[in-house]
Amino acid sequence: MKILRIIEKKKILQSAELLVNAKYAIALTGAGISTESGIPDFRGEGGIWEKYKPEIYGNIEAFLRNPAKFWELAQKVAPTLFKAKPNPGHYALAELENLDIIKAVITQNIDELHQAAGSVIVYEVHGNINRFSCLGCKASYSKDQVLKKMKKGKSETPTCDFCGAPLKPSVVLFGEDLPRFELFQSKALSQKADVMLIAGSSLEVAPICDLPLYVLQDKGKLIIVNDQPTHLDNKADVVINHKTGTILPLILEEVKKLMFERNENNVKS
Ligand code: APR
Repeated sequence: MKILRIIEKKKILQSAELLVNAKYAIALTGAGISTESGIPDFRGEGGIWEKYKPEIYGNIEAFLRNPAKFWELAQKVAPTLFKAKPNPGHYALAELENLDIIKAVITQNIDELHQAAGSVIVYEVHGNINRFSCLGCKASYSKDQVLKKMKKGKSETPTCDFCGAPLKPSVVLFGEDLPRFELFQSKALSQKADVMLIAGSSLEVAPICDLPLYVLQDKGKLIIVNDQPTHLDNKADVVINHKTGTILPLILEEVKKLMFERNENNVKS
């Protein structure tokens, strides 16, 4: 476990102060917040795209040509994905929402771990692995229905009971549009936010990687917690290159102390 240096402790306090004094703080998360729940990320060390080429396994045109490739990857990742539990990073964000410090979580993740940790206002801008639909007749299927089909199915790619077309999880593949409502909301929230806490994202995939720019447009502040540098580090007020599962609970702790001191002062005055 990397020892927290004095400098990081200072940045944790600075992050807490920015959040407590914010008028409208939001969080933006990526796959990095879920790696401590056992789910691999995409571009970190040993990430999914190191082993599986995104243009073959994660692209809509490739899926339409040959869905088996996507389902091959899905079968590898699904068991970890479906049994994953939230980690302290997810719980810290849920508690910050509970304390009315952050107003919403915009997540690029499809694993529903924010909701499982208790976050309520969550915008899943890249969809969700627990819902499936038929590419032909648009019939919708639950995760359990699809898992049952895969268990008894002869082919590796689940097909629709009604029209026989291939099923696809409601996750956004490269080349697909993002869900309109979530995209609209995440842009509107980013334009309104004066502080954005970014946790576990390489900030490499548009249009979501541009959301922090909306915050900066109005002189808003960025806090980036990521174990690798990102291209926005030089525009952030605070950058902590450390594990989200360690840092987010420490930021929460400092937020609670500042809120307590503030209440104490209010009582005295
Ligand atoms: N704590 C902090 N940072 C972490 C941790 C951790 N425990 N684990 C990984 N990271 C960092 C990685 O170093 C990397 O910089 O999190 C970042 C995750 O970046 P990506 O793997 O690129 O994930 P993300 O930013 O969510 O990717 C965006 O790309 O492939 C598409 O649709 C996919 O939603 C995904 C999108």
